[in-house]
Amino acid sequence: MAQSREHFGNRFAVIMAMSGSAIGLGNIWRFPYLVGEYGGAAFVLVYVLCSLFLSLPIFLCEGVIGRSTGSNTFGAFSKLAPGSKWRWGALLTVITPLLILSYYSVVGGWSVEYLVQSMTGAFTNPEADVVPMFSNFTAKTWLPLVYHTIFVAITGGIIVGGVQKGIEKFSNISMPLLFALMLVIMIYSLNLPGASAGVEYLVKPDFSKIDARTIAAAMGQSFYSLSLGVGTIVTYHSYVSKKENLMTSGLGSAGFDLLFALMSAFAVMSAVFAAGIQPGSGPGLIFESLPYVFNSMSATMPVLSPIMASFFFLAVLISAWTSAVSLGEVGVAYLSEEKNISRKKATLIVFVGVWLVGCFCSLSFGPLRGFKIAGSTVFELLDMLCSDFFMALGALLFAIFVGWRMKRSDVHAELTNGGTLRFNVKVFGFVYFLIRFIAPIAIAVIFISGLII
Ligand code: TRP
Repeated sequence: MAQSREHFGNRFAVIMAMSGSAIGLGNIWRFPYLVGEYGGAAFVLVYVLCSLFLSLPIFLCEGVIGRSTGSNTFGAFSKLAPGSKWRWGALLTVITPLLILSYYSVVGGWSVEYLVQSMTGAFTNPEADVVPMFSNFTAKTWLPLVYHTIFVAITGGIIVGGVQKGIEKFSNISMPLLFALMLVIMIYSLNLPGASAGVEYLVKPDFSKIDARTIAAAMGQSFYSLSLGVGTIVTYHSYVSKKENLMTSGLGSAGFDLLFALMSAFAVMSAVFAAGIQPGSGPGLIFESLPYVFNSMSATMPVLSPIMASFFFLAVLISAWTSAVSLGEVGVAYLSEEKNISRKKATLIVFVGVWLVGCFCSLSFGPLRGFKIAGSTVFELLDMLCSDFFMALGALLFAIFVGWRMKRSDVHAELTNGGTLRFNVKVFGFVYFLIRFIAPIAIAVIFISGLII
């Protein structure tokens, strides 16, 4: 505990690191697909409302817990509620991100392979049959494991560097690069012949599709996209200086996350529709449909297609990488602070564990395909448990803790920097009401109805 803590250098770094965590595979493949599936612009509207009134308050709760204690998520609960049962909940928020990281790294590994393939022109070879490449590749034993290992190693490498020299430096460079890449890809996609069908798919509101399931999906996606409920945002806030305005940086991070999700949706869907195919679901959307798109464009645009394919998979890789760093940091901060071991050792322990569990996830597409627990492969089970269950539970925990266990005056002091931020003082009552009543009730209702329907 005696180690002195590092801090992010300035607001830009805070927002880049937080949005680096938030912007990830969830934005590039999950969001575009959900928008199409759940009613286009109508879904986007529900999504924005969920982000503003549910996710942002949870984000602020995590911010309050993290910054007021300056501790990892477990240490934070121990400081604020010493000796209480809250620590078991806290432990959940340390373990869940590591479980997520283990299968997230498998997908991260796929994006390394896809970047290599794009750069060598494999997807833009007119002779190639690119759609089955994905299932052929993931069914292999060794190659996906090698890429998984590479991805885990480079993520651990950033974390070992520490907060300022590792995480901050990396996200300050990679996030602007990521936006620039996505902007180029989006402009390219929107100009493809036939792209307007994709745009229509995304913007035409279909209000008849809005029901309880849509709202549950929008809330789940909004939590997932902002990396909520798993201690990541708590841990990152423990590196935020006392001078920072938590509401402003929260709004900034959520704004970038939404902007990037929308840019991805337009880029991906206009390309998919321009190629005249139906959007597939899940990983298939970017790993099967997109190579097909690049392949079919290569006849008319032989030079541009491989470049765009490489840009796209580089964007996927960077976005997965910055999120992975934030997932790993939760466990590293926990071990180094609570168990008093060096950052290097903590990173090694966390990443060997994550790598091992990830190996099982990777193999569950190949040799372990037949090994199922409750009807799901190891990969599917972890994804379902974490994103459908543990994240909502964690979010509920944070809201109840800040809304009901912490003192109102402490929350007020943290969100208004001791009453010095005038705008924050004005809106505090409303924000506190969202934290105390709206967020927990809505999460509980949506969560339970999601289980029933
Ligand atoms: N937000 C990330 C994305 O959009 C994924 C994610 C979910 C995540 N939960 C997280 C990242 C927790 C970091 C921490 O892809």
